[in-house]
Amino acid sequence: MADALSLCEFDISPERGFLCSYDADSVVLPSLLAPAAEAAASLPRTLLTGRVRAHLAQLPPVDLSQFCAEASEPRIRTAMLRYAFMVQAYVWGEPEPAARLPATLAVPVWALARRLGQMPLLPYSGYVLDNWDRFDRRKPIALDNIYMMQNFLAGEDESWFVLVHVAIEACAGGMLAQFPALIAAADEGNKAAALSALVAIRSVFEDVNAIFDRMPERCDPYIYFHRVRPYIHGWKDNPALGAGLIYEGVAETGAKPQAFRGQTGSQSSIVPAIDALLGIQHAEDPLRAFLDELHFYRPPAHRNFIDKVRALSHVRRFIEEAGDAALREA
Ligand code: HEM
Repeated sequence: MADALSLCEFDISPERGFLCSYDADSVVLPSLLAPAAEAAASLPRTLLTGRVRAHLAQLPPVDLSQFCAEASEPRIRTAMLRYAFMVQAYVWGEPEPAARLPATLAVPVWALARRLGQMPLLPYSGYVLDNWDRFDRRKPIALDNIYMMQNFLAGEDESWFVLVHVAIEACAGGMLAQFPALIAAADEGNKAAALSALVAIRSVFEDVNAIFDRMPERCDPYIYFHRVRPYIHGWKDNPALGAGLIYEGVAETGAKPQAFRGQTGSQSSIVPAIDALLGIQHAEDPLRAFLDELHFYRPPAHRNFIDKVRALSHVRRFIEEAGDAALREA
């Protein structure tokens, strides 16, 4: 009998899925980070000047070693979100990309990423999972009740793009809730329980895709491509930035350019978690290699969840051996 899978052990819940488990807009950063929080909040204005780097260069240097050692996870993730947005804006916010990141941004983002076990640039978890809150916290996490906290240029298209991801992640919580039951059903040989879990997961996927279909309602492809996507690129295999970005003041880089991948829905944990549950393998191809690499850009807790599900789940073998047409179909 496999040890039971508990979602909360991995900071996941049926209501919020992989979304942050705290109310992000209630997180208060210490005064040490007030200049950074203010500069980040001003991005929609300073990006329009075409001189965002001059604005961000005014940030005072901060030593986050004590903050990184003592602050709570919600505070660390909120500080990372603010700094990561400024890093992206500094690199991509003017006609020519920046090849060097000043120490006032490089040192803090590197320290925060180190504390979180993630890469020192904007991850999907910072762009989406930790970057939203509700107008009415008694009501569901749905498109008519959520807002984006930190923006680049802001505006309808950028916010809607991110909030559709947020609504999908919340909805997907209903799938994750079925994982423990389905894994146990396969281990116990309980066909009825396995069938009902599979049917429940299928119906949540239909809800997820119905939310996905709403993307064009307020996110225009031209605006997305020209005014949303440019800020989320990374600096690995990106011809615009050659060998990568120099993180000034970060001794361990030896002043060498660093290459990291930009944020993408490919860092969402929903699809890889389902692949792990159903024992789905992918052929060796460039996208597979890319997706495998992005596994290490996810929050460690979510990485561990996917790895544990893949190790625990015997769902595929159970269904292959059960010889039950309804189960196979489901
Ligand atoms: C306008 C909307 C969207 C566009 C243009 C878009 C674009 C892309 C692109 C270009 C990729 C390929 C890999 C990459 O280059 O990063 C990708 C992968 C992916 N995106 Fe999106 N995306 C959109 C919305 C979403 C949403 C709302 C989600 C929900 C979480 C999502 C989840 C994913 C996933 C899971 C992958 C990896 C697919 C795989 O496993 O093969 N995307 N997306």
